[in-house]
Amino acid sequence: MNSLSKMPISALFAVIFSSVVTAHGGGSELMGGATNSAYLKECGACHLAYQPQFLPKRSWEKVMNTLDSHFGDSAALDDALKSEILGYLVKNSADASSSKISRKMLASLGTAETPLKISDTPYFKRKHREVRADVFKRKSIGSPANCTACHLSADKGDYDEHKVKIPRK
Ligand code: HEC
Ligand code: HEC
Repeated sequence: MNSLSKMPISALFAVIFSSVVTAHGGGSELMGGATNSAYLKECGACHLAYQPQFLPKRSWEKVMNTLDSHFGDSAALDDALKSEILGYLVKNSADASSSKISRKMLASLGTAETPLKISDTPYFKRKHREVRADVFKRKSIGSPANCTACHLSADKGDYDEHKVKIPRK
């Protein structure tokens, strides 16, 4: 009797809980994944093809003009590919986007700051202040640049905080 009467209550809780989560969904947004095929192929070879909306135009220009020495690697491209990819990144950069993440990202930067890394920005640091430095160093994560390790749908532009799953090792 006791266990029977508990069932509808837990079911009710499930309904309430899921509706709360749905209502909260308004706080996050889907940016969509990166779309340019040259960008996906060339810049998605070593890591996630980061959404261009995460950095201002001036950052993408700096990244694309320093590909010979790209964080210890060479990601050099011929001029045609480079200009196609840069065009795509600039057109969809934080400056050109009306997304909430882009607006917050820009607001977190001084106009003279030109970060090469999303993970170096005050916006990123604020959003990840609950993630300890040693967590980013776990074997299956490696560094903050490895968005997909924790944001399983990062390639679709889904960074919803309710879908984050931090690997234990
Ligand atoms: C040969 C491998 C390689 C290729 C190809 C490559 N990258 Fe990278 N990229 C790296 C490495 C290594 C890092 C540093 C990752 C880390 O900090 O752990 C990095 C980091 C980045 C970051 C900063 C990530 C952060 O921490 O916020 C950006 C932005 C970036 N790359 C853009 C690009 C773009 C644009 C292209 C294409 C033109 C590209 N990458 C191609 C190896 C590569
Ligand atoms: C070690 C796991 C981990 C990695 C790696 C990581 N994140 Fe996160 N991220 C989190 C957690 C945890 C949160 C949620 C923090 C909270 O609940 O306030 C978060 C939150 C966010 C948010 C805010 C979402 C929202 O709804 O407000 C964005 C945007 C984001 N991350 C982007 C990135 C990007 C881009 C990268 C890679 C450059 C990245 N993250 C790498 C764990 C990670």
